[in-house]
Order: sequence, then structure tokens, then C-alpha cells
Amino acid sequence: MMQQHPNYQIINVDSLTYAGNLENLKSIENNPNYTFSKTDITDAQAVDTLFRQGVDVVVNFAAESHVDRSILEPEVFVKTNVLGTQVLLDAAKKYGVTKFVQVSTDEVYGTLGETGLFTEETPLTPNSPYSASKAGGDLLVRAYHETFGLPINITRCSNNYGPYQFPEKLIPLIISRALSDQALPIYGDGLNIRDWLYVEDHCSAIDLVIHQGRIGEVYNIGGNNERTNLHIVKTILQELNKPEALMTYVKDRLGHDRRYGIDPTKITQELGWKPKHHFETGIKETIQWYLNNKEWWSRIQSGEYQDYSTKQYGDRLGDSL
Ligand code: DAU
Repeated sequence: MMQQHPNYQIINVDSLTYAGNLENLKSIENNPNYTFSKTDITDAQAVDTLFRQGVDVVVNFAAESHVDRSILEPEVFVKTNVLGTQVLLDAAKKYGVTKFVQVSTDEVYGTLGETGLFTEETPLTPNSPYSASKAGGDLLVRAYHETFGLPINITRCSNNYGPYQFPEKLIPLIISRALSDQALPIYGDGLNIRDWLYVEDHCSAIDLVIHQGRIGEVYNIGGNNERTNLHIVKTILQELNKPEALMTYVKDRLGHDRRYGIDPTKITQELGWKPKHHFETGIKETIQWYLNNKEWWSRIQSGEYQDYSTKQYGDRLGDSL
């Protein structure tokens, strides 16, 4: 946003829980148009103080986002993703913003069989505590539009990948573990399908929705890049020149959605959005970024991440952890 719109004043609100990392934004921290506020969006008073400064547009990226964590500890997902969204909506309503964009996920639509794609009309059928909490947030956003006339958009994206992704998600998890010759946990048969979207393509879509999205509308964002998990893992191993013997089939994720696939026709036709990154080049660039930034991901794999990793993978991988 700062590159595309250098005159915008941006307030970055983050409670800096385990995945938040100010190091990621070092390059802009002294920019006079950028302010950081360590604030929890469930804290209504603190949020009110922020809005009092004058806010035109809210883009709600703040979320607990990792499905496996929501299976271990659902409560914090409801707090941040549902209650936090409602706190932001109340402030947006009180201070009268010009647009509230809710950044959501294709997971609210549930799972697909072998055919078909998620459209904006697909009924919400979330299957995990994470996706249920995101669906709850989305429904509140919709309700604030219907009831109070709040000018909103909701975006629903597929799986993001790219630099700076916390190494609990599949792609950075596999890259970092493969580089350390650790066992690579494959849930179930590894044939679940995700529709991969390069993070900067997601950002360009959100930029378009902020500026041109029709009020009250939902926009699906996806790059037409469906791949099985096995394909992803094997591609990374090949690129890193590591053996497939590292792949370890483990107990499946509970309620594991089989397939996600986005139909991006609406955002493509209405707003002219087009992803720039092909998966084949995007994944290579991403792997290279993790190779060049080993210190970054090694540092954040300490403390809380180790505790989570033991809870999530200890029983699954046993001695090979
Ligand atoms: O579709 C968008 C969603 O994508 C976002 O809303 C979520 O915030 C984001 O976490 C992501 O959800 P997934 O559950 O699809 O992503 P994850 O990286 O956790 O897993 C991708 C696939 O890889 C999924 O089928 C589970 C599998 N997997 C994941 C991990 C962490 C494994 O086989 N082994 C693993 O260790």
C-alpha cells in the first residue's frame, strides 16, 4: 500500500501475538506516513482512541488464522475473529468510515468434491473452529451493512504463499524442516487440494476492492492454482535437492477439508483484477526467499512456536520430530 499510495497515512494495528513481527516492517518504520499501534482489536477503548484520530478506511486483516491451532484452542479464535471484528465494526459505525473491508477466507464455504468451484453465492458451511469464527465475523460485517448501512466489502481468498509467512503454514513449514533434514508431516493421504495465491496478488486484489469494490459486495480472490499437498511438498524437495524419504505420513487433521477452489470471475470481470504470479515461478521465488532469510525464520521458531510444534506434531511424528 505504501508503494502504490505513498500519500496515504497508514495506521498498522497489531497485538503482536506469536506471529506478529515488527522486523517485517523495518523498511517503513520511519516513514512519516506510517504509524504502528500495538493494540488488541478486542479492546474497545483502545480501538476507540485510535479511531478518534480520524480513519477513512478500515481493512481488517487481524485474525487468528491457523486451522490446527483452532482445533487445539478454539476460544481465542472466537475472541479475535468474531468479537474483535464486532469491536472494529462498532468503531467504524461510530466514526463513520468510507469503507470497511473484511479480509476473509474461502474456508467459510467449507469443502469441495472433485468438481465445482466456490463462487460468492456458495452457502457458508465452515468445518473448523477457525473457519466458523471467520464466517461469524463475515456475517457480522454483512449485518452492519444491512442494519446500519455501513459501507462494506468482504474478500475471500484462497491459500496465500510468499515471503514472510510464519513457518506453521504448509509451504514455509516444509521448506524450513526440509532444510534442517527433519521429517515432513503429510496429513492423511496428502491428496487434499489447495488453490495457491501469491501474497502480492492478494494485496493487489484488496487494493482494487478498497478503491472500486461495489458497496455491500463479496469478492472471491484466487489464482486458479489448484495443487495437491503432495505436489507442493515434492516440488519443494526437488528445488532444495532433498530426498522424498523425508516425507512422513501422519494422522490426518480433524475435519480436514478435501479441496478448495476459487472462481474469481466476479473480481476479474468487475474490477479487472488479474494475478501476476504463476505458481511455478512464485514457488521458486518463495523458496529462494527462505534460503536467503534463514536467520529470520530461525529466530521466530523459538519459544511459543516450539511449544505449539510439540503439541501439534509430538504424537504425530514421535521420535522423528
Ligand atoms: O484457504 C485459505 C486458508 O489457507 C486461510 O484462511 C488460512 O488462514 C490458512 O491457514 C490456510 O489454511 P490451510 O489449512 O489450507 O493451510 P495450511 O498451510 O495449514 O495447510 C495446507 C494443507 O496442507 C492442508 O491440506 C493441510 C496440509 N498440511 C498442513 C500442515 C501444517 C499438512 O499435510 N501437514 C502440515 O504439517
